[in-house]
Amino acid sequence: MLGDQADTTETASVRSNRRTRGVNVANAFDAADGRGIHLTPPLFAAIRSAGFTTLRLPIHWSAHADVAAPYAIDEELHRRVDDALNLAEQYDLDVIIDVHHYRELMDSPRAHQDRFLALWRQIAQRYAARPLSLSFELLNEPTRAMDAPRWNELLQRAWATVRESNPSREVIIGPADMNNLHALTELKLPGDPHVTATIHYYAPMAFTHQGATWIDRHSYPIGRSWGTAEEIQAVRDDLRLAHAWSQAAGVQVLVGEFGTHDRAHLADRVNWTTTVRSELDRLGLDWCYWDLATDFGIFDLTENTWRQPLRAALLQ
Ligand code: BGC
Repeated sequence: MLGDQADTTETASVRSNRRTRGVNVANAFDAADGRGIHLTPPLFAAIRSAGFTTLRLPIHWSAHADVAAPYAIDEELHRRVDDALNLAEQYDLDVIIDVHHYRELMDSPRAHQDRFLALWRQIAQRYAARPLSLSFELLNEPTRAMDAPRWNELLQRAWATVRESNPSREVIIGPADMNNLHALTELKLPGDPHVTATIHYYAPMAFTHQGATWIDRHSYPIGRSWGTAEEIQAVRDDLRLAHAWSQAAGVQVLVGEFGTHDRAHLADRVNWTTTVRSELDRLGLDWCYWDLATDFGIFDLTENTWRQPLRAALLQ
């Protein structure tokens, strides 16, 4: 059920024109049990003063909503998200909220599409009165049975659902194949000036995800370095494709995730991060680094300090 304070009309505030230089705050709302990193005022202050403009908050809504119609989202999750949005407004941080980890939808789109749309109807109504510094990202990394044809159909319906209550809020939509940039050509977006396309960039996976134990199919061995002239060129070629698509489509592209696992050598991580980030800045593409404080993180929560070389690779 929606809370008492639910609003159903979007506030006519102006979205800031600043470029998105964001950081993903994982393990706050995307852990299945919902308990992870504690979002405090000093943390928000540190993120803002480091120079980030934006937080991307991955949210596992589907783990906190009824499985039967009308699929009500738990008020407790809404309240925690409200607190984060209030803090972000206080610290002048833009926010992107998404639907993260909806695995059942990826496996059984038909069985879950009504629930997915009902989640968006509730989220959109709940946050309609928020400033336009809040953006909605429809679905993190569509994959498996949520292939391009199915996703193209469902994304139109989800976008229309959001638009019932939020006529001009930015809606962020990525292609199938886990937001792979090569799948942009198959993405069918609604004709809407307030839509941004998003991709995730982790190439080469064998470098960025080395040592990650949670990868389903296989894990990549550690010890893989990065930084030859060919590897640097491959990154530039990839990102140029995203830029070319953006120009041709007339749609802004946000690289909503890019980053490296901490089992890779720090010098190589810094080199890769600098290369990707400077190329994105040069091409005028927006970005959010993955992530703040998990195994890809640039912030050490125990010491309460930035991993300076990585932070500098992003914001120098
Ligand atoms: C996933 C995370 C993962 C990250 C990097 C995210 O979209 O939700 O679990 O750590 O991508 O692969």
